[in-house]
Amino acid sequence: MLSKVNLLKELPPDLDQSRLPRHVAVIMDGNGRWAKNRGKARIFGHQKGVDVLKDLLRCCQDWGISALTAYAFSTENWGRPQPEVEFLMTLFERVLRKELDEMVAKDVCIRFIGDLTNLPHSLQEEIKRGMEATKENKGVKFNIATNYGGRQEIIQACVAIASNVEKGLIKVEEIDEKLFENHLYTTGIISPDLLIRTSGEMRISNFLLWQMAYTEIYVTSTLWPDFNREKFHQALLNYQQRDRRFGKV
Ligand code: IPE
Ligand code: IPE
Ligand code: MG
Repeated sequence: MLSKVNLLKELPPDLDQSRLPRHVAVIMDGNGRWAKNRGKARIFGHQKGVDVLKDLLRCCQDWGISALTAYAFSTENWGRPQPEVEFLMTLFERVLRKELDEMVAKDVCIRFIGDLTNLPHSLQEEIKRGMEATKENKGVKFNIATNYGGRQEIIQACVAIASNVEKGLIKVEEIDEKLFENHLYTTGIISPDLLIRTSGEMRISNFLLWQMAYTEIYVTSTLWPDFNREKFHQALLNYQQRDRRFGKV
């Protein structure tokens, strides 16, 4: 078992280093079902899911993938039972506090994307501290989508742009893809090359709607708490077989 883990410390030899995705996005789905299958409460799945995400981040460092974006909480997830929502908010805060030193040491640059203003105050403080402490870091760009919705992100960009037009700061003719992107939460982050969704659901659930225009999508039936380096390896092998045409021939 240990040797297998060690083996995957380095990039598996059947992967082409020069054709790795630069940015991987993940919809970490299936925590609740994983827990239910074990006769446990859904929160056990969320708890286990954190360890999986931590190892995926380390794996990106080990294998030379420069950006990872994880969907942690959608704008629709507020509709879950309140105890589950509260557990998740507390979990995010606890994990961030516990892991920050290591992320600083490993040169990870953290960014939270989403409407952060509706998060609990103490979580907002922790997020601010985390982003501030790692903003100059040059290692993996680790983006955590929290209270994130693709539609909400697009609307807030439109509002900001319209308000700048109203104030006379920009002209309507100046609105183009570049300007629009500069008003998204992901400004400065390249679009994901690969999206991985676990738990078999073939949908994007309001994640990165603008950014995923040409992202390759990989769906695995593995539930998120069972995802690991070997499954990531499989996803990357599959990705490297794709012919990315971007509308050309
Ligand atoms: C994903 O797992 C985690 C979050 C949405 C926070 P789920 O909680 O959606 O697990 P399932 O889909 O119900 O199994
Ligand atoms: C998507 O999973 C959101 C996150 C992983 C944070 P959901 O479980 O909320 O998505 P649906 O409801 O199956 O579309
Ligand atoms: Mg789900």
